[in-house]
Amino acid sequence: MAEKILIVEDEETLRESLKRVLSHEGYTVDTVNSAESGLKSIEEGNYDLIITDIILPGIDGIELVRRVREKITDQAVIVITAYASLETAVGALRAGAYDYVAKPIIHEEIKSTIRNALKEKALRAENLILKKQIEGRYDFEKIIGQSKVITSLIDEVKKIAGSKSNTLLLGETGTGKELFARAVHYNSSRRDKPFVPINCSAIPDNLLESELFGYTKGAFTGAVSAKRGLFEEADGGAVFLDEIGDLNLSLQAKLLRVIDDLEIRPLGRVQSRKVDIRIITATNRDIVKAVKEGTFREDLYYRINVVTLKLPPLRERKEDIIVLAGHFLEKYSNEIGKHIKSINATAQTLLTNYLWPGNVRELQNIIERAVLITDGDTILQEHLPETLQDTSPFPCEALEKAFSIEEYTKEFILRYEPSYGEQALADMLGITRKSLWEKRKRWGISKKK
Ligand SMILES: Nc1ncnc2c1ncn2[C@@H]1O[C@H](COP(=O)(O)OP(=O)(O)OP(=O)(O)O)[C@@H](O)[C@H]1O
Ligand SMILES: [Mg+2]
Repeated sequence: MAEKILIVEDEETLRESLKRVLSHEGYTVDTVNSAESGLKSIEEGNYDLIITDIILPGIDGIELVRRVREKITDQAVIVITAYASLETAVGALRAGAYDYVAKPIIHEEIKSTIRNALKEKALRAENLILKKQIEGRYDFEKIIGQSKVITSLIDEVKKIAGSKSNTLLLGETGTGKELFARAVHYNSSRRDKPFVPINCSAIPDNLLESELFGYTKGAFTGAVSAKRGLFEEADGGAVFLDEIGDLNLSLQAKLLRVIDDLEIRPLGRVQSRKVDIRIITATNRDIVKAVKEGTFREDLYYRINVVTLKLPPLRERKEDIIVLAGHFLEKYSNEIGKHIKSINATAQTLLTNYLWPGNVRELQNIIERAVLITDGDTILQEHLPETLQDTSPFPCEALEKAFSIEEYTKEFILRYEPSYGEQALADMLGITRKSLWEKRKRWGISKKK
């Protein structure tokens, strides 16, 4: 495909001769005679490279460079300076130009400058793709865990690798939903196409819509330039809608339409455009309950939920705790250049018995902190935070939400039984000794000797 070049030059002879030379080289060349119309063309056309004169009527070439750079595009800009005055050239480079050529223009010189600029641009794009591929390849390696449930989840992700089924990830906070969402994408046949994440709860509703769908210039006050929506950016790949449970009903209806028609319409545009996207979603909410209560559309729920991956909380896969802790220990020790080798037995017991309301993320943070404060080569009990020590207040807000009261009571008994007498345990739970006994019997928890 021919690379597209825009020439911004007010002097007609130069403009036309440049156009002729560059078209002859095989580039697709457009020309304008002012920076103002240049900016407009840049907005609309998809240029790989811009060549601009510095002295122009109206906005000058340096300002043009500055505005192009502000837009975070990857277009290269080459400026033409009237006399090889170093000052203007330096100003242009400082504003973000790739290079400059001096008048009178030597064709061979400008051709080679253009070639270099385009080569560098292609290299940058290639690096980006390569980096993404490498990240993708290692994604399964990034998932640590030996519990049955984690290994079978990984198997399931491998199984669905060939499909483009919309996938819903469920699980409490910090259980690895995003990690798995990436694994789903980077192990699918769409891995070379973008994975575009967006957190639905972090962005106000009206902004979220324009982020997702994009808009045309002037679609609303403040829309000074057109913007591609995330759905369009993810074309061919996947959009990861995190915290989907927080999406409002009006956007739910719009998302439903995207899934059904595979079409999106940017705000302010009349025509819609076809997109090919896989929708990966995640939530830590009880979405079935939300459907029952009418805050989440049932039809949408079925469409995003073709494949469900349920990530269990850490306390339900205790065998992963020490493995994960070891992984994070190595990671953070390497990062800060300490040689911490192990976690001692007491600390390991504390880690294993804790209920991890913040799941893997909480474990990760706690190990990072322990690595920071440890002087020796072993992590000890004292390097772990208060919350993990036995004296810590047990009921924590997150836990109460995550557990049913029954499960909570059971965990409580199991945890405190070794250190408290029966009466004390019953008092703490606010129940009688008799009912404590009944509960024990029902759950088959034998009384300690
Ligand atoms: N099995 C795992 N192996 C290695 N790292 C993990 C694992 N699970 C989670 N993590 C790490 O824990 C952190 C939290 O994971 P992630 O962001 O995927 O959780 P989440 O479920 O999306 O949480 P939230 O609901 O709060 O957004 C991340 O840094 C992630 O890399
Ligand atoms: Mg997340």
